[in-house]
Amino acid sequence: MFPLLKTGGLADVAGALPLALQQAGADVRVLLPGFAPVLADLEHAVLVADVVSPWGSTSHLRFGRLRSSGLPAYVLDAPHYYQREGSPYEDAKRRAHADNHRRFALLGWVGAKLSHGLDKTWQPNIVHSHDWHAALTPAYASFAGAAGAAPVQVYTIHNLAYQGLFSRAQFVELGLPAKAFAIQGLEFHDQMSFMKAGLFYADHLTTVSPSYAQEIQTPEQGCGLDGLLRERSACLTGILNGVDETVWDPAQDPAIVATYHAQRPQGKTRCKAALQARMGLAVQPNALLFGIVSRLTEQKGLQLVLSAVDDLLAWGGQLVVLGSGDPALEQAWRQLAIDHPGAVAVHVGYDEDLAHQVFAGTDVTLVPSRFEPCGLTQMYGLKYGSLPLVHRVGGLADTVEDCSLENLDSGRANGFVFHPFQVNALRRAIERAFALYKRSAQWRAVRSGAMRQPLGWEAAASQYMALYRSLLAK
Ligand code: ADP
Ligand code: GLC
Repeated sequence: MFPLLKTGGLADVAGALPLALQQAGADVRVLLPGFAPVLADLEHAVLVADVVSPWGSTSHLRFGRLRSSGLPAYVLDAPHYYQREGSPYEDAKRRAHADNHRRFALLGWVGAKLSHGLDKTWQPNIVHSHDWHAALTPAYASFAGAAGAAPVQVYTIHNLAYQGLFSRAQFVELGLPAKAFAIQGLEFHDQMSFMKAGLFYADHLTTVSPSYAQEIQTPEQGCGLDGLLRERSACLTGILNGVDETVWDPAQDPAIVATYHAQRPQGKTRCKAALQARMGLAVQPNALLFGIVSRLTEQKGLQLVLSAVDDLLAWGGQLVVLGSGDPALEQAWRQLAIDHPGAVAVHVGYDEDLAHQVFAGTDVTLVPSRFEPCGLTQMYGLKYGSLPLVHRVGGLADTVEDCSLENLDSGRANGFVFHPFQVNALRRAIERAFALYKRSAQWRAVRSGAMRQPLGWEAAASQYMALYRSLLAK
């Protein structure tokens, strides 16, 4: 949950959606694993219960308020699981923790306990779990028996490609009934799939864009779960994520050298020069500057950029990359920067402030993902007037309209879209970006429209509220 702990977009959503739901009138509480920054942020904590897991470990469920956001929160205080070096999922050497099945089953176990009356002072009507880490909540809840009220279980897929797969032996540790290890259950090719538990046992499923909701029902993008998703398609809804405008707003962003907005975009010129200088690029105000802020994984499609970069540079462009992930990709980008000093700059690592500076300082944000459930960086690009250039897939397709002549004419254009996922299609989109940049009045008009687009969380929150109400009325 941003700003406490973040590895990607899930944290941005977890940090913003509960507050947006609160604004929309919901009585929201969050449940989080007690990673060190989360526990440190919890104020006025009281003990709700000592919880014994099915495999016999004891942890403390605390309730309080998060200092950073004011949100009421349950936090699972289990230092033996959550207080470790490395990322939330991996050790310092990037190896998945051997007991991840227990670490995240515990979250689901407690989610189910809270569903069924663990806190005598507060009973949820809706329990909404996010991604595989929380996905055992509806599974445990469905086997909890009829004790007390049974809230509606909603499960959101943020990325079907990360499934939380574990062995049959690990399944046996988790205290679920043996019959759950079946096709009609959480079994997936003789393994246990946390993701499938969410998909199978929740009352309603959502995912983070309407296009992705359709795509995951096809064999190409269903990651082996498309059959189940087609069966459940009547209770699968795509709701587009939003942008947290308290964090991502160039008019009041403390991380950038000059603030700006659609009516007064001049500050963006200073941001561009500062970024070029900081990253060791030639400080040329008229060089079309492309930016990438991304996890470096196969999903993000950046190999395609590596194949098109010679043209991008030959046409006078520059490129700045902020990313981390796959060591081979990190190395490929480092090498590219060495080969093109002054024109390509690469920062390998994770840097929140630099991410803001990249969106503020660039003209174009590249997001050529092979698949993208929603994607947030293209929306940050829109807000910061860095026109997104995207592959037409998932949430990218739902948020970006190409600068085709008809879209320019109607005022819908806000970026550049390519399809199919091939280097020639990408190259042509890059060419369109250069073509529009030469028509500077038109460029400024498109940019100004992009920056004024409403992208806040209100629309998503009201869709979730409508969904919750309809589920409660059933
Ligand atoms: P995903 O969750 O698949 O990584 P999203 O586009 O939904 O993709 O979200 C990515 C989030 O992570 C954005 O907030 C983006 O700014 C941030 N991010 C990705 N890589 C980095 C990095 N190297 N440094 C800082 N922020 C990053
Ligand atoms: C996942 C997806 C990304 C989405 C994010 C938040 O990490 O890869 O597309 O924006 O979740 O929903």
